[in-house]
Order: sequence, then structure tokens, then C-alpha cells
Amino acid sequence: MPLLAWNDSFSLGVRAIDSQHMTLVAILNELYEAKMKGRPREATGPLLLKLVKYTRDHFSTEEAMMAAAKYSGLAAHRREHERLTKQVEEYFARSNRGECTASIELLRFFRNWLTNHIQQFDKAYGPCLIGHGMR
Ligand SMILES: [Fe+2]
Ligand SMILES: [Fe+2]
Repeated sequence: MPLLAWNDSFSLGVRAIDSQHMTLVAILNELYEAKMKGRPREATGPLLLKLVKYTRDHFSTEEAMMAAAKYSGLAAHRREHERLTKQVEEYFARSNRGECTASIELLRFFRNWLTNHIQQFDKAYGPCLIGHGMR
């Protein structure tokens, strides 16, 4: 069973963003499956880096689109992205002094964060982007 199953409640109606969110969910599930199968760190490490990098790129895309649409909630939204980035960085620092690990605990935390963030924060800017012709 995947860690996170995509459902329509995640959809913003902005294609570029929805497709990035789907990719995030897919990478997260791939990593979770690798962990559940007991794959070694050599296999999970690159997947974790891919997840972190894709998340960072996704945040940049979102912030650029919100800026282009002059979305009033951009500053608060950016703070939420920074909060997650910091939490993930702190997690890495705690575990094995910066060495990348992908514990189930981290993946569950990420799953919960992503679910709440999309439904609360990302969905809030959807109408503004759509109003500016971004679909
Ligand atoms: Fe997002
Ligand atoms: Fe976001």
C-alpha cells in the first residue's frame, strides 16, 4: 500500500502545480516502498535526495507563480515552505551528522506535512492563479 494515495481533494485545478504535487507523491511512495522492502541506504539515499531536491524546485515554482499573480498570501506561504525546509534540514543534522537517511518516521512526517500543506495553503492560492489565467 502506498504511503499516500492521490485523491481529488489535492487538486488545485492548476495543471502545472497538480502535476508537480503528483510527482512529489510518486517519489515519496517510491522511497517508502524501498524502505519497506528493506533496500539498503545506497538505494534509498538517492531517492531521498531526489525528494528533497524536487520539493525545493516545487517551492520555487509555486512562489514564482504566486508572485506573478500578486497573491497576497505569498509571504506567509513562503514562511511555511521555509519552516518545512528547516525541519527537514534539522532532521538530517540530527540523524548521523548530516548523512542522509530516510526513516519511516521522516516519511510519515513528510506525508502529513504535504497533505496538510496542499489542502490548507496551496488550495488557498489556487483561485488567485486561475483568476490570472494560470491553469
Ligand atoms: Fe505545493
Ligand atoms: Fe506550497
